[in-house]
Amino acid sequence: MSTRLRRDIRLHSCTVPGTFITFEGIDGSGKSTQLRLLGNFLRANGCDALLTREPGGTALGVRLRAALLDAMEEVDPLTELLVFAADRAQHVRRVLRPALKGGKVVISDRYADATVAYQGAGRGFPPELISQIVHLATEGLKPDLTLLFDLSIAESTNRTARRTTGRSSGKISRDRLDIEKADFHARVRDAYLQIALAEPERVKLIDTSGPVDHTQERVKEIVIPFLQSRGHLAMNYV
Ligand code: TYD
Repeated sequence: MSTRLRRDIRLHSCTVPGTFITFEGIDGSGKSTQLRLLGNFLRANGCDALLTREPGGTALGVRLRAALLDAMEEVDPLTELLVFAADRAQHVRRVLRPALKGGKVVISDRYADATVAYQGAGRGFPPELISQIVHLATEGLKPDLTLLFDLSIAESTNRTARRTTGRSSGKISRDRLDIEKADFHARVRDAYLQIALAEPERVKLIDTSGPVDHTQERVKEIVIPFLQSRGHLAMNYV
């Protein structure tokens, strides 16, 4: 933690309305590691955030995720779009809305921007169709804050390639989307960057080409004041 951020942070109130934060980025961007680190940090400071993910944030979603990401499965692009949407509808209705209604901080590893980037730009479905399907599945629920973890396609490819060779235990292996070609991932990345440009208030861009702890500092610089401003964290400067 940097000197500027060396602060005494504690839970301020459980009665504030919920806050919805999403982590997005191309495969290998390191967002899942950062989500875990942020979750640990918040918990250690009295903010019991709910960490979740798409696909796979519900019991049904876990099964949909396994089918969707199985590298051996042949999934038609329309089926893919609809199953991601089905996973999201279940997640929104059964997990996200109830938690937010209960005043929780909810942090999701991916959400609707992933459909705009992967199925819209990556697969080539028209923006109007993507926007209709997203709206149907989310019922208009938008994140209050999105962190977009960005790095070059070359570095992303390096990192995801290490997954198969580096982790033979199968804990992290390359999935059906990881093994798409570089131009697919380049379209996905461009779409994410367009979203960040279009919605600078909501979407904060984070360069993840550096070390993990450097990226973690950047995450905290953004998330801590945000949660404070919404009453989830109190802070005394030392
Ligand atoms: P992720 O959980 O980030 O995978 P990893 O285990 O590599 O961290 O995401 C799984 C994949 O699902 C990822 O390649 C992106 C893809 N995806 C979509 O294509 N559309 C979507 O709407 C979502 C939520 C994910």
